[in-house]
Amino acid sequence: MKPLEAISVVEEKKIVPVVTINNVNDAIKLGEALCEGGLPIAEITFRTSSAEGAIKEISKNIPEMLVGAGTVINLEQAKRALDAGAAFIVSPGINRSIIEFAIDNDIPIFPGVCTPTELMIALEYNLPVVKFFPAKQYGGLDTIKALAAPFPGIKFMPTGGINADNITKYLEFDRIIACGGSWMVKENLINDGEFSKIIELTKEALALVK
Ligand code: 3PG
Repeated sequence: MKPLEAISVVEEKKIVPVVTINNVNDAIKLGEALCEGGLPIAEITFRTSSAEGAIKEISKNIPEMLVGAGTVINLEQAKRALDAGAAFIVSPGINRSIIEFAIDNDIPIFPGVCTPTELMIALEYNLPVVKFFPAKQYGGLDTIKALAAPFPGIKFMPTGGINADNITKYLEFDRIIACGGSWMVKENLINDGEFSKIIELTKEALALVK
């Protein structure tokens, strides 16, 4: 999939479930639950050592899913994510070596920004979309609107503190293509094998943005 195609899938789905997986054996069940809930997309965070294996399992066995890597904080993780089959990379901040690696390898990169200076670095690379993180703590929608004004060419994917109560407000702003969030795939739900709850929460989340 070309970078712009993956970005348009993110834009179409409007929600990117942010997943922290502690056991690779849960990967397929998690992927199936998201598909059954109607959201065949996931950002698997490199916060645990299972991330790489989980991306591999899902990308190999559930081809209808768009699976990306999140919390990618260095070049080595970006390389491992790509090798595992990630279709996009999300980073909590700006790291030029990750951005350059993603561009060279034709994989979408959503670097985290929360200041105009960081946005200007993203613009140096002509990135179409950045992550705004952590959204709630950095002023939420008001800050995104203020940041968007001087930079008309760039769009946002906020993450951090977004949930069923506030996602629709964020998505009303036309410069936001999608929101990331973990509320429907909470770590404890995955650890406890509560996949039917994940399906239910995913369906509820989807209904909000349809
Ligand atoms: C992320 O990694 O993007 C965030 O930690 C997800 O934020 P949330 O858990 O507040 O949804």
